Amino acid sequence: MANIVEEIKKPIGREMKLFEQKFYESMQSNVALLDKVTRFIVTTKGKQMRPMFVFLCAKLVGEVNEKSYRGASMIELIHTATLVHDDVVDESFKRRNFFSINALWKNKIAVLVGDYLLSKAVLLSTDHRDYDLLSVISRTIREMSEGELLQLEKARKLDITEDVYYEIIRQKTATLIAACCEIGVLSNGADEVLAKKMQDFGTFTGMAFQIKDDLFDYLSSNIIGKPVGIDIKEQKMTLPLIYALRTAAETDRKHYFNTIKRYNNDTKRVKELIAFVKSTGGLDYAVTVMKEYQQKAKDILNQFPESEARTALHKMLDFVIERKF
Ligand code: IPE
Ligand code: IPE
Ligand code: MG
Ligand code: MG
Repeated sequence: MANIVEEIKKPIGREMKLFEQKFYESMQSNVALLDKVTRFIVTTKGKQMRPMFVFLCAKLVGEVNEKSYRGASMIELIHTATLVHDDVVDESFKRRNFFSINALWKNKIAVLVGDYLLSKAVLLSTDHRDYDLLSVISRTIREMSEGELLQLEKARKLDITEDVYYEIIRQKTATLIAACCEIGVLSNGADEVLAKKMQDFGTFTGMAFQIKDDLFDYLSSNIIGKPVGIDIKEQKMTLPLIYALRTAAETDRKHYFNTIKRYNNDTKRVKELIAFVKSTGGLDYAVTVMKEYQQKAKDILNQFPESEARTALHKMLDFVIERKF
């Protein structure tokens, strides 16, 4: 699987190397504590799929230039800030198979470091007068915050429908991937029509990406670095569960609803719920929907002429739904 990533990176290998340097520089600060934390962040880097989307979309219509690098750094700064804040909100002590920032330095520092990273993303755009990128990332940050709050509200009331689920994942995850793709072409001077098309491409891709992430919660073989059933414990209802409850008989629905509401920390009840979701075809349903989004993204991609970047983006889309991490 790591090979797929290497293969996708091939046309942008040099760019990804340069990016790592620039990304680190974009976080630098004279405050010793911040420097310590940001060094930790770069050593525990993730898959870096978002900068890859920026560069491949830039190459799809032109070339990777200084503005593309700035765009990729802005995006990865926002992504990192979001994860640092997310682990505070979710009270999660693990990230990328390491301890999270809040586990190592406590919530106060994690909240402030996240804010710092967001400010650096905004500054990177204003310092270079990239106002088109500033507009994209500001909208993205707003949508991501709204999505997270909507998710919290629904977890509290446990009244999420399938449509609301799609709205949550569009806002909290797909908008950032859409921003990657839009910024990639904007760094090559794209017009509104092209920018919108790439935004749609990224949105469909991001929807598939988050459905895959939510499926990991049901798979014991998951090596994503988070424990199985954690979403249920957080009372976060995702697509497989929403489908299972909707199609269940009334007595089952009541029983499992109760599991989520009152027994979300009871390992035996959570296991039983996971088995129920599997037996009702909840996972299959989510896989089907995920593939539909992937296909919509591929359809947009196919409107572009054949190129090395287009092939790599197709592979990226395969990786999004086949990945094991
Ligand atoms: C994790 O994204 C957050 C979600 C949107 C589910 P990634 O899986 O891309 O995270 P890293 O950067 O590779 O750790
Ligand atoms: C990650 O969300 C952060 C955003 C998508 C904004 P989750 O809480 O769903 O994902 P993980 O599993 O912690 O990465
Ligand atoms: Mg979360
Ligand atoms: Mg989380």
